[in-house]
Amino acid sequence: MLLYVLSVILSSVLIILFALKTYYPYLWMDILYVGELLWILATFTSMRRRRPLFLAVDRFAEQTAAHPDRTFVVFENQTYSYTAADKRSNKIANALQSLCGYTSGDTVALFMGNEPAFMFTWLALAKLGSPVALLNQNIRNKCLLHCFNCSKAKVLIAASELKEAVQEVLLSLSEQGVTVLLMSEHCNAPGLQSFLDKVNEASDAPLPRSVRLHITYKTPAVYIYTSGTTGLPKAAVINQNRLLKNLAVLSFNGITSRDVIYLNLPLYHTAGFMIGFIGSIQTGSTIILKRKFSASQFWDDCRKHNVTVIQYIGEVLRYLCNMPKRENDKDHKVRMAIGNGLRAEIWTEFLTRFGNIQIQEFYAATEGNVIFVNYPGKIGAIGRVNFFQRMVFPYVLIKYDIDRDEPVRDTNGLCIESPKGETGLMVSKITDMAPFVGYAQNEEQTERKRLRNVLKKGDLYFNSGDLMRIDEDNFIYFQDRVGDTFRWKGENVATTEVSDILTISDCLKEANVYGVQVPGHDGRIGMAAVTVVEDGQFDGSQVYNHVVRHLPSYARPRFLRIQNAAELTGTFKQMKVKLVEESFDPGCIQDPLYILDDNDKSYVPLTAQVYGTILSGNIKL
Ligand SMILES: *[C@@H]1O[C@H](CO)[C@@H](O)[C@H](O)[C@H]1NC(C)=O
Ligand SMILES: *[C@@H]1O[C@H](CO)[C@@H](O)[C@H](O)[C@H]1NC(C)=O
Ligand SMILES: *[C@@H]1O[C@H](CO)[C@@H](O)[C@H](O)[C@H]1NC(C)=O
Repeated sequence: MLLYVLSVILSSVLIILFALKTYYPYLWMDILYVGELLWILATFTSMRRRRPLFLAVDRFAEQTAAHPDRTFVVFENQTYSYTAADKRSNKIANALQSLCGYTSGDTVALFMGNEPAFMFTWLALAKLGSPVALLNQNIRNKCLLHCFNCSKAKVLIAASELKEAVQEVLLSLSEQGVTVLLMSEHCNAPGLQSFLDKVNEASDAPLPRSVRLHITYKTPAVYIYTSGTTGLPKAAVINQNRLLKNLAVLSFNGITSRDVIYLNLPLYHTAGFMIGFIGSIQTGSTIILKRKFSASQFWDDCRKHNVTVIQYIGEVLRYLCNMPKRENDKDHKVRMAIGNGLRAEIWTEFLTRFGNIQIQEFYAATEGNVIFVNYPGKIGAIGRVNFFQRMVFPYVLIKYDIDRDEPVRDTNGLCIESPKGETGLMVSKITDMAPFVGYAQNEEQTERKRLRNVLKKGDLYFNSGDLMRIDEDNFIYFQDRVGDTFRWKGENVATTEVSDILTISDCLKEANVYGVQVPGHDGRIGMAAVTVVEDGQFDGSQVYNHVVRHLPSYARPRFLRIQNAAELTGTFKQMKVKLVEESFDPGCIQDPLYILDDNDKSYVPLTAQVYGTILSGNIKL
């Protein structure tokens, strides 16, 4: 009898499990994910309770104590253990402390490309309790000064190869009384001090904790620059609280101290800094650091260093797939790829070609307050939504009017939730658990990212600026960005910044900048519809020199469309939609078209033949 009852119970359980598996295929993954979320919240809360205050840099100290000889970073031919990195950062910190012009806690701007010194300097500044502004190494002139100004830094530390870029803005920096340090042993330029010699001579003794006693969880830890919808880059404030939360998030990807992480994304951006660098500190992993991404060296590097985890933005995996096939394509130890922006077609191609690699696609904005993780690995989705997460971190997709460039509102002035399957603007509620800190020295732009009266009068949301769609199975997909930005080569480009630059060139009067899609490429490439000054002539090489001088390569308009007069029909916004649709096909557009040509150092006519070469992928864009 007992046996009979048991077997009935057992078979019912099996039938229920089978039914669950059939009708709710993701149920177990959802439960596991919710469990992980709870675990993250618990870890984060317990880290926050520790006294004295526990900061990201304290995690580095823990890792160094736990495995002093483990490799922390490998770069070109140099290898640094955790202890070596710790000592080197002590030297930088001690050298800095003995300089007049710096007091511990002062904000410091770091202007440096990917190299170990970037990491050591950040560690040094974290030990000294200084917020660090991570300047993009590609910016120059006005943009560089603007970014520096946003951080109110007292000191600028620059890599030696960026000396000329620093000299261009030195006058303004000196006027503000900024101490400018160059990471070189010698420097005889007035207004610039060599710093490497001082670092080499400094003591490697640890810094007392007392130098960072002033820090609270609200203190800025880093400023990361983002190009938003308008104007020059904005400095997103990453405070100590956010950095600590980041630590908790990373260990749940299943990355451990035995993993070797290949970091080829810029350290001054969120992905490289927060995930690659800070993430490795959390897990105690080894970083293989690259100066920049190289598709041809990628897999050889991975084999040479036994890399187990790679980081990507969508374009990275596309470039890898575009390389000629090799016999050893599947011969590597990479088990996981973590990143965002991977398109469905590349995802499949990548897996077929390079073997069974777990893709951890997620969505998060530098300054945003919501994260989506595609934990089931559904091809093409950026994440999976579930009831629990939505309860803790509320967000909603709302109807958006593309032509008017604003959310649709009902008669009560409230936004309208997009039904499942339809595209909407993703907005996430600002709460204590999901704060939005905003941008340094820019209340106007911070306010622009806040959206009020969304579902109820008086509520407050963060406007992501991203259009998304949720399908019947609760997967969420990225659709497009709204407003005046486009993405090219992994960088957001603000169209107004580009048009500001174009209109101060000698021969151009007006410029309307937008991004256009090119077959076989992710994102949108820059294009501008321009008018020429009265009685003037378009001078391709003059505009080229102007553009190259003022804009980083990803932001330069690749195509120019010369118009007799800026079209006055409709609103400015509607005109842009039309221009984007017409794109850059000389077969359909009557206006003269030009293409930026780096060989000729000029804008040259875009002929039907050149157009054909672009479509067939024979011109590198
Ligand atoms: C690394 O070492 C190898 C062999 O010693 C040398 O050929 C190469 O140029 C070095 N690379 C760098 C970037 O220093
Ligand atoms: C930066 O700040 C200085 C001093 O406040 C000011 O003179 C300069 O115009 C600013 N530059 C930019 C590009 O914001
Ligand atoms: C990579 O792994 C192989 C075999 O497991 C080992 O022989 C080799 O020394 C490792 N290389 C590095 C750089 O750790």
